[in-house]
Amino acid sequence: MIKINKIERYYKTGQVIVKALNGVSFEIKKGEFIAIMGASGSGKTTILRILGLLDKPTKGEYTINNLNVVDFPEEERSYYRLTQLGYVFQDYALINEMTAAENVYILSLMEGKSKKESISISREALENVGLGDKLNRIPDQLSGGEKQRVAVARAIAKKPKILFADEPCANLDTHTSEQVLEVLKTLNKKFGQTIVMVTHEPWHTKYVSSIIKLKDGLIVSDKKLRK
Ligand SMILES: Nc1ncnc2c1ncn2[C@@H]1O[C@H](COP(=O)(O)OP(=O)(O)OP(=O)(O)O)[C@@H](O)[C@H]1O
Ligand SMILES: [Mg+2]
Repeated sequence: MIKINKIERYYKTGQVIVKALNGVSFEIKKGEFIAIMGASGSGKTTILRILGLLDKPTKGEYTINNLNVVDFPEEERSYYRLTQLGYVFQDYALINEMTAAENVYILSLMEGKSKKESISISREALENVGLGDKLNRIPDQLSGGEKQRVAVARAIAKKPKILFADEPCANLDTHTSEQVLEVLKTLNKKFGQTIVMVTHEPWHTKYVSSIIKLKDGLIVSDKKLRK
């Protein structure tokens, strides 16, 4: 389903070039639940942003179902992202003026669903991450972990074909992390969603089917687990 080949990504800051990815290749099959691990700065967010069509590689190939998504014109990329992909941002990226429910249902509205249906989809997703009683809070009235769960709810609400999650449990305690990971596992098992999750926590890997480890912008191991 997902194939990347020799992906490189350089960032230029002034005269300095940072090589965040140095030639990363892997394949992800439909229905897999992948963990991407590695030390801070190893390139995890960089590769996830490229996979989620939020950024483009400096070099290399990327196809989803044999479609060359890198070369899609901007509008097509946005449409593909909206209709096929979900993304949980490491820094949540919530809209401050909107309630939790509004932050979640805005994407359904953008997809063309009715307000009534969008609200019900949004409520279900927020209930799934344990926020059913905080639908009308704005982000400033939520803790870091609650904001993170709103970001998860927003990404899973539309049951995207592929879900990308950048450290979705980074600010959660063990119990709430389990709750979020169980939601992801259900989406993966019940709806066959492909999930790519960045994580630092070794215990999270009991939920996944493969682990890709990055170091200094290179893959140092790509391990399939038996599930
Ligand atoms: N916009 C940017 N401009 C310049 N350098 C960047 C930019 N984004 C990331 N980098 C650099 O690229 C490298 C990889 O960053 P990335 O954010 O992918 O790391 P990460 O593995 O997600 O780290 P963390 O675990 O801290 O989130 C780092 O050296 C980082 O400083
Ligand atoms: Mg990161």
